[in-house]
Amino acid sequence: MTVRAVVAGVGHYLPDRIVPNSEFEVSLDTSDEWIRSRSGIERRHIAAPGQTTSDMAIRAARAALADAGLEPDDLDAIIVATSTADFTFPSAATMVQAELGMTKGFAFDVQAVCAGFIYALSNANALILSGQARRVLIIGAETFSKIMDWTDRSTCVLFGDGAGALILDTAEGDGTTSDRGVLSTDLNSDGRYRDILYVDGGVSTQTTGFLRMEGKEVFRHAVEKLAATATTALEKVGLTGADVDWVVPHQANIRIIAGTAKKLGLPMDRVVVTVQDHGNTSAASIPLALSVGKERGQIKRGDLVVTEAIGGGLAWGAVVLRW
Ligand SMILES: CC(C)(COP(=O)(O)OP(=O)(O)OC[C@H]1O[C@@H](n2cnc3c(N)ncnc32)[C@H](O)[C@@H]1OP(=O)(O)O)[C@@H](O)C(=O)NCCC(=O)NCCS
Repeated sequence: MTVRAVVAGVGHYLPDRIVPNSEFEVSLDTSDEWIRSRSGIERRHIAAPGQTTSDMAIRAARAALADAGLEPDDLDAIIVATSTADFTFPSAATMVQAELGMTKGFAFDVQAVCAGFIYALSNANALILSGQARRVLIIGAETFSKIMDWTDRSTCVLFGDGAGALILDTAEGDGTTSDRGVLSTDLNSDGRYRDILYVDGGVSTQTTGFLRMEGKEVFRHAVEKLAATATTALEKVGLTGADVDWVVPHQANIRIIAGTAKKLGLPMDRVVVTVQDHGNTSAASIPLALSVGKERGQIKRGDLVVTEAIGGGLAWGAVVLRW
């Protein structure tokens, strides 16, 4: 028998306020047509003033717990993937732990920007396979609206706020790719590219800073590296694009999503796309897409899912799992 980390539940939360592209036409030299055609984004949710990342994370966590039919004390660990935690410390994860009323186990944050959920999922899988935790709640939650330069049209139109959560539970499989659960993971980073996507502030500058990006450069790395990491993750377990039921990509730009799918040899009707409604929600984008994809009836039990992301660092990776 082989230990597997199997999806037990999924859920998400989006703030009430929806900002359509047309709202940017008032304050910036931009247009709905430009944003739509260059990114595929039509609208995004923006957190209310005072609404924090941990607030959204808790709501997504409660939705995932309800979906799994579990109580907070059934969990052993919480990992929050975020670059926009409420405070420098404590972690958003311990804030979620306290709010859920969970008094045992452990909680910590993972910071790998838009690849954060892939890193968190991979680490949660490792905790389960090594026997250090039996049930792990993994959350991606971000308030990127708080690190936007709202005068910079090349970045502020691309991002949104939200949170998604997924629970992994320990199960036994027979060690084949027919097993449900995480089948393989592939993580990468290359700090030489740290200057093409970063925030120009932080503790050392005693400012929060704003997101800065060389969009064209990021785009160039994204398609190539996402297709490579997804292919590697599949190859690790002897699978190819032909075996995949759903690609659930990081939702940054429809042209990156389509370019990566094409490189993997997969038609767009096997890709879960939410970028039009959410924009880029960084570490929240994949759990949001998994939750929405399940709600839409796209992702079903037993489906082979490949999920991949890239972000600041650069950091990127992929996870292959059977839902
Ligand atoms: C940012 C991005 C949408 C720009 O698309 P693009 O096709 O590369 O855009 P182009 O370089 O052809 O056009 C840039 C021009 O549009 C202008 N522009 C930028 N933002 C604009 C906006 N919101 N509205 C109108 N014009 C805009 C620029 O000023 C530039 O003008 P110039 O040529 O006169 O200097 C694209 O590069 C991208 O998505 N990159 C990846 C970003 C990303 O996903 N990052 C997160 C990864 S986690």
